[in-house]
Amino acid sequence: MSIERLETWFVERLGIQPDRAMRHRLRQLVLDDAAARHLDVDTYAALLRRDGAVREALVDRLVVPTTAFFRHPEHFAALRAALPDWPGPVTVWSAGCSTGAEPYTVAMVLREAGVRDWQVVGSDVSAAALQRAAAGRYGDAEVAGLDAERRRRHLERCEGAWQVVPALRERMVFLRHNLAVDDVPAPARRARAVFCRNVMIYLDPAVQRALLDRLDDQVPKLELLFLGATESLWGSDRPLPSGAVGGGVRVPSGAPDAAGGAGAEGGGAAGGAAAGGGSRPGGGG
Ligand SMILES: C[S@@+](CC[C@H](N)C(=O)[O-])C[C@H]1O[C@@H](n2cnc3c(N)ncnc32)[C@H](O)[C@@H]1O
Repeated sequence: MSIERLETWFVERLGIQPDRAMRHRLRQLVLDDAAARHLDVDTYAALLRRDGAVREALVDRLVVPTTAFFRHPEHFAALRAALPDWPGPVTVWSAGCSTGAEPYTVAMVLREAGVRDWQVVGSDVSAAALQRAAAGRYGDAEVAGLDAERRRRHLERCEGAWQVVPALRERMVFLRHNLAVDDVPAPARRARAVFCRNVMIYLDPAVQRALLDRLDDQVPKLELLFLGATESLWGSDRPLPSGAVGGGVRVPSGAPDAAGGAGAEGGGAAGGAAAGGGSRPGGGG
């Protein structure tokens, strides 16, 4: 098998649409891994196909795990503002949660708002990222986004690092999940809000659409969908309307609007752009 076919097989399996930099990194990773195992490309390809652990390790090294606590704070302000309207229990799904800063930020918001009954589901395709998320341990630089009061309240010192307190950790569910191909995991199906930020950008447009359809079918209570600030919906090049809550989309309740008109209300998003960017998944073109 040529290295090009091997790469194509791998990215299709992941459902990603790698840009040039990612494709370059993938090639380098494949060549390095094959060389480290003293294998030619054909033999390495066969190994990759049959050995899930080898594939997993490659995924762990390929994905971009960049994240931070309270990254785009306006999203968390929008979440907090919505909470009084949601009868408990409240479930929020952080899809593509990386090492956990995003789902733990959600947990902090829920706790600070005094929500009694809640659960945060964090999922990622990278097993290594999830392992870190489940441990909830971070270095000084990683918790830089948390002020002193939040550190005091939500973290504790642990062997020279910081660890999220058990009161938050015990309400978290972390699981491995590939947004490109897997159905919505059972605990996330109750979600009122989904954070799917800075991950859509890696997915092929057709895969993005299928994901949005799955959200529509499998997350019936979904009201708020947060995407990264530069991401768009429907696999189109169109960025989300700037009036939407920092890239968040308020998903209208009820049946999808086939006309695509009654779309986003998020933060006062305006007309035409909102129809594509903000209508319920599955309802837009
Ligand atoms: C740039 S990080 C974003 C983390 C977090 N959402 C944030 O915005 O701070 C992207 C994450 O998406 C994950 N990811 C990439 N492709 C994925 C897929 N197909 N399914 C699930 N997670 C994926 C990566 O492993 C990585 O942890």
